[in-house]
Amino acid sequence: MAGAGMPQGDPFTLGVASGDPDHRSVVLWTRLVPEPLAPDGGMPRQATAVEWQVSRDPGFSSLERHGSVRAVPGLAHSVHVEADGLAPDREWFYRFRWNGHVSPVGRTRTAPAPGAKTDRLDFAFASCQNYVDGYWPSYRHIAADDLDLVVFLGDYVYEGRLGAVGKERSVAIPSEYRGGTQDLLGWRLRYTLYKQDLDLQLAHARSPWLVTWDDHEVVNDYAGTQSQYAGGADISAMRAAAYQAWFEHQPVRISSRPTADGGARIHKRLRWGRLAQVDLVDGRQYRDVPPCGWGEAPACSAAYEPSVTMLGTEQEQWLYDGLKKSKAQWDVLASNVMLARLDHDGPDGDRLWHDAWDGFPAARQRLIGAWREAGTRNPVVITGDWHSTFVNDIHADFDQPGSPVVAAEFVGTSLSSNGDRTPYGPYYGPMVPFNPHIRFFDGDRRGHVRCTVDREQFRADLEMVTTVTRADAPRSTLASFAVQDGRPGAVRL
Ligand SMILES: [Fe+2]
Repeated sequence: MAGAGMPQGDPFTLGVASGDPDHRSVVLWTRLVPEPLAPDGGMPRQATAVEWQVSRDPGFSSLERHGSVRAVPGLAHSVHVEADGLAPDREWFYRFRWNGHVSPVGRTRTAPAPGAKTDRLDFAFASCQNYVDGYWPSYRHIAADDLDLVVFLGDYVYEGRLGAVGKERSVAIPSEYRGGTQDLLGWRLRYTLYKQDLDLQLAHARSPWLVTWDDHEVVNDYAGTQSQYAGGADISAMRAAAYQAWFEHQPVRISSRPTADGGARIHKRLRWGRLAQVDLVDGRQYRDVPPCGWGEAPACSAAYEPSVTMLGTEQEQWLYDGLKKSKAQWDVLASNVMLARLDHDGPDGDRLWHDAWDGFPAARQRLIGAWREAGTRNPVVITGDWHSTFVNDIHADFDQPGSPVVAAEFVGTSLSSNGDRTPYGPYYGPMVPFNPHIRFFDGDRRGHVRCTVDREQFRADLEMVTTVTRADAPRSTLASFAVQDGRPGAVRL
């Protein structure tokens, strides 16, 4: 029970969320924030009990599971309930109660049992939601689609100081939120700002999420504990604060809580019956500094050293072991950065973008080799980061353009980042002809990718909104692609 002296305002101002489902459990998340402008969310520095309930029906006529969980100041009064003992493959409703307030009702879902003959998985993937670059109308559409799952591929928040108004999100930003993100307090306020968005809350409340991070949850283009923008300084302390705030605000398992060394294990595997396995990777925490240079730089032989890693040795092994054991028809790699090569200048040069897998060609080769060694039936990659849409053929070896196509990659555009005004079409567009494995490119639109997976095909619909200057912008499907079972590579429908 909440004690005397607790704040009286609605504590559920950041909504509710669920995530990391398996066939018998799911994580339920909320955070008590009765005063969103206050550094501590308006909560006193003491622990308090939050009640949670899970029901089969949205009216909560009977409770399937319920309990009480401690919200502590050390985790910003967030809670991560692992509701277990649930039946597989069905819909659930959940809510929280605290201090006389009842939270909005969330809907979530358990996965089918690992061996189950499952016919279908409907999910969306999305990334890159710079608050000041616009609203997130895509989330209304994602919520309306009643999906089994939302996969978030990074850049949930962006670092740094903010101005007085959101540029293409035409609202005043309270001064409390404008400070930087150098410490835990700054990051908590940043998440508090972002998570008050009602469309984001709606999408979280409607489906379970799988969440990984990219660079902006810490600092632009970082690798491990280094960043080109830190002037060679070690970013460990700043990174630890950022990871802590990330954990506090995402519906992830307790096992993803940062440890004493400041790291956090966030990669994970979702099995959707026998139909699909999703391996969600962390491409930032364990990566080496790109050997050929930060950002855009010429290719170099140092990147081909076998010791150079993107995922780190342990995560790589975890991924490859999981592929070997997989009995799934579709093996989905959820990656923060692009796997395919993007040759910037064709025969005239050898410039690549080294913040993506192009900076780590030997590591990429090991990953592609692991699919072949494991006999992975249908590898499909889903990717964030580029604020542009790409549909790519993944070749067995990008240094041999004639080598077979082994996988398809769908790179989703941003939800809002770059806004309406600064499209990437003019920048990447001229590079595309140098890369015949790129089947489709669009750099000018914001949106998300809707995926429909069944026994015959993995279908991807590129769902674009007309603008991000309005929260209620309509969407339309720009193009649709499918990978047919047993035939690597995407085909336009
Ligand atoms: Fe981004």
